[in-house]
Amino acid sequence: MKKILITGGAGFIGSHVVRRFVNEYPDYQIVNLDKLTYAGNLANLTDIEDRPNYRFVKADITDAPRINELFLQENFDAVIHLAAESHVDRSITDPSAFVMTNVIGSVNLLNAAREYWKGSYAGKRFYHVSTDEVYGALSEEGMFTEQTAYDPHSPYSASKASSDHFVRAYHDTYGLDVVISNCSNNYGSHHFPEKLIPLAINNIKNGQPVPVYGKGENVRDWLWVEDHARAIDVIFHQAKTGETYNIGGHNEWKNIDLIHLLCRIMDKKLGRAEGESAKLITFVTDRAGHDLRYAIDSTKLQQVLNWVPSLQFEEGLEKTVDWYLENEEWLANVTSGNYQAYYENQYKSR
Ligand SMILES: NC(=O)c1ccc[n+]([C@@H]2O[C@H](COP(=O)([O-])OP(=O)(O)OC[C@H]3O[C@@H](n4cnc5c(N)ncnc54)[C@H](O)[C@@H]3O)[C@@H](O)[C@H]2O)c1
Repeated sequence: MKKILITGGAGFIGSHVVRRFVNEYPDYQIVNLDKLTYAGNLANLTDIEDRPNYRFVKADITDAPRINELFLQENFDAVIHLAAESHVDRSITDPSAFVMTNVIGSVNLLNAAREYWKGSYAGKRFYHVSTDEVYGALSEEGMFTEQTAYDPHSPYSASKASSDHFVRAYHDTYGLDVVISNCSNNYGSHHFPEKLIPLAINNIKNGQPVPVYGKGENVRDWLWVEDHARAIDVIFHQAKTGETYNIGGHNEWKNIDLIHLLCRIMDKKLGRAEGESAKLITFVTDRAGHDLRYAIDSTKLQQVLNWVPSLQFEEGLEKTVDWYLENEEWLANVTSGNYQAYYENQYKSR
């Protein structure tokens, strides 16, 4: 029996990680801690919310006394930390929120783990979920490996890099059992439609302009979110203490090519003439400091822990489009803001 604290479990990736752990490990107790910012949506977890091995706690990781109190009460065996401010555009508008949650919030969790595990780290583990954006940008050649020096460019990636450094420092200084993974861009179901793929699907569906930064030349390496959740499961259970793993799909796409592929899939799914959806593509002024290319080398994860992505991109993208078209209510609730009432409606009597 293990009790695992998963932070940020109401978000996009966190909800997939929570679902996977609740389903795969009925003997574990999963506590999902989330502040429910605009990005947190408990409707992502309706399928598992009544399971006996699952519980939700509304809390803010920047609130150190609350985090300490929770560690004292719950006696967690492990933390899988995903809670973060995650949108680069928002980090350009308001960097401080990113420092508070991604840096201070992470340090609060590390302090609580250190304090309540009291140097007796056998069977305890702190897993920090991070991003490939800490490595900076690539030109047309090369890939990020676990040895690539950190070179973050946006306030988001700077805050994630900082939290990664703190996690390693707590391992080196206090002996805390930590593991870190740095993953490429994720796509899949339950993704908040401010991010490229769900935003494009929603706008194409509604016949609205599909904004593409600059000329769409930026290259990203895309991974299906359920493959990321499975990688987290494997790393959590099998990685040696202090290790870092890169996670990626060896699946690089220029934004503009990805959007054209999405338009072709949507034309087919919506019964539109070929080329119809692509007419919605609208180029907009590029994001400040927009990194040209990310590409992740996940050879270590593949060779040491035998993880490989399960889906080809075209197949994963088609599955993703199907999910958004079949879950109109989820999408309508998110775009209207109604999802924010879900917690009140669902949990007020519990
Ligand atoms: N989305 C990606 O492509 C990607 C790729 C690599 C790594 N990551 C990392 O994975 C993690 C999850 O990303 P995501 O895309 O699911 O993000 P998300 O924005 O969808 O979800 C973040 C969750 O954290 C919660 N949260 C935010 N601030 C909080 C606070 N102060 N206290 C408690 N909860 C808080 C939000 O309510 C939300 O549920 C992040 O750490 C991110 O850096 C994301």
